[in-house]
Amino acid sequence: MPKAEAQGFTREKLIDALNEDLSREYQAIIAYVNYSQVLKGAAYMNIADELAVHATEELDHALQIANHVDYLGGMPSVTPKLVKTSEDAEEMLRFDLENEKETIRNYRRRIRQADELNEFGIAESLRNIVVQEQDHLIALATALGIDPPNPGIAD
Ligand SMILES: [Fe+2]
Ligand SMILES: [Fe+2]
Repeated sequence: MPKAEAQGFTREKLIDALNEDLSREYQAIIAYVNYSQVLKGAAYMNIADELAVHATEELDHALQIANHVDYLGGMPSVTPKLVKTSEDAEEMLRFDLENEKETIRNYRRRIRQADELNEFGIAESLRNIVVQEQDHLIALATALGIDPPNPGIAD
């Protein structure tokens, strides 16, 4: 395959994709700020504290992703993806779990794309972020009493 054809991914596409990731980080910040405070019930007190920690980690991720977008010459997005709310504790945790799965699926793909463009610094940053996202996934699965699901990798 000719080189141009093999390299279907471009820096412009990486900027757009990272901005989607940034919108997911904003969504995660908002969800964890809200859920950590409204989650009620003795059974959920530990996880509520943990969700507050997740909120600060998601902010750190958002800052890193925004930095990468700026470095690539793009404008960091300002729009969060839609945040679902619920009165039900278990439902809240399931929303979070689904979001973390989606986030991990996308970062796994993004690491490969950043590597493909020789943006190894960005790939390294994403690898560190995905370690924390996996911890979030494990914490939520544990709180729900299930095994951590395998999120797979995005197309
Ligand atoms: Fe995150
Ligand atoms: Fe997360």
